[in-house]
Amino acid sequence: MLQEKQIVIGVCGGIAAYKVCDLVRMLKKAGAQCFCMMTSSAQEFITPLTLSTLTGQKTVCGMFEQNKDWEVEHISWAKRADVLVLVPATANVIGKINAGIADDFVTTTVMATKAPVLIAPAMNTNMFENPITQRNIAQLSELGYHFTMPDEGFLACGDTGRGRLAETERIFEDIVRLCTPQDLAGKSVLVTAGPTREAVDPVRFLTNHSTGKMGYAIARAAARRGAEVTLVSGPVSLPAPYGVRVEQVESACQMRDAVIQSAPKMDLIIKSAAVADFRPAHVADQKLKKNQLPEIQLEKNPDILQELGQMKLSAVLVGFAMETEDLEQRAKEKMERKGLHMIVANNLKVEGAGFGTDTNVVTVFSKDGSVKRFPKLEKTALADEILTMAKEWIVR
Ligand code: PMT
Repeated sequence: MLQEKQIVIGVCGGIAAYKVCDLVRMLKKAGAQCFCMMTSSAQEFITPLTLSTLTGQKTVCGMFEQNKDWEVEHISWAKRADVLVLVPATANVIGKINAGIADDFVTTTVMATKAPVLIAPAMNTNMFENPITQRNIAQLSELGYHFTMPDEGFLACGDTGRGRLAETERIFEDIVRLCTPQDLAGKSVLVTAGPTREAVDPVRFLTNHSTGKMGYAIARAAARRGAEVTLVSGPVSLPAPYGVRVEQVESACQMRDAVIQSAPKMDLIIKSAAVADFRPAHVADQKLKKNQLPEIQLEKNPDILQELGQMKLSAVLVGFAMETEDLEQRAKEKMERKGLHMIVANNLKVEGAGFGTDTNVVTVFSKDGSVKRFPKLEKTALADEILTMAKEWIVR
């Protein structure tokens, strides 16, 4: 996702400097090239050698280091950056940037870059809450600098409060967003994911094998592309994607209520949840005894997607079809019957497709008759393909 991106990281002098190592690891795993520069105080906490070893690049610490290429190095670093990130950013460096001071390699490079600058502050609570720091942050935000604000918690100085460096995952996500075209900015997207659980008695339920991987990948990708995302999720064990509003539900009826309530505000609705078609007609008050084989009468659950199709919404509707035979015919029939713009069909009998896997193999049918067959793809990559196709319907 960060293939060919160049991330320049300015490390400042704070105890959280060691957390840069983990950030570099995550960025490299995502395909980015990382270049570190350090203030002189940063070198009191972590060595340039550590960062050079992790990045595989020279770490620059001073303005006047010998440079074999005779480039004006802070300018070349400023130009190379797709994103420049300051982590941890101290009150001192934030203040200098806001005052227009450029007196070392880090602040000079910040001043010279036209790339988006992301600042992740970390400091003692009183320093963070100091009106001078708050004013500097507000003014820099107004000038277009981006912030990953600190967390609350126990600080290295012994105090408890706001000022702890944000979780590395949060800083990573903000970098990814700054590298991602915001083509869904201003759009509201609703995604459903996971299975539903239909109670039989207080301890048992009917469900299916959905893990939520497909739906969570779509929700995360939409948020990274700038959309305001609501994820209505059945019970799964995945962490909530960063920046996504998650509504947890259990049963198909609860999922229906959550979806129908939010639907009128949406530009795009993608229903990748595996909703149970049936539920027990009666839920036993007490645990059913194992010595008397119970007869479980089933009744139909509401078809959420069909109801959405009948609501005459302005939203683009995308359904999924999970089939084991006659994929094309059944998927097209579902698209028509449920009034959809697109349907994403996966055949559970194909290796690498469907439940639980990190990959999926799908064919996407659109109501204009077009058909797109995808090879086996990671669900994360497929999520972007589906969103790109759905976006075309939003702008039509
Ligand atoms: O979660 P993973 O482990 O990653 O697995 C992904 C997946 C296999 C669950 C996903 O790719 C998928 O195929 N989801 C749809 C599963 C499904 O319920 O298919 P269906 O053909 O039964 O339903 C068709 C469509 O109607 C779906 O969009 C479904 O959400 C919707 N539906 C179904 C029944 C119902 N009562 N209400 C609905 O809205």
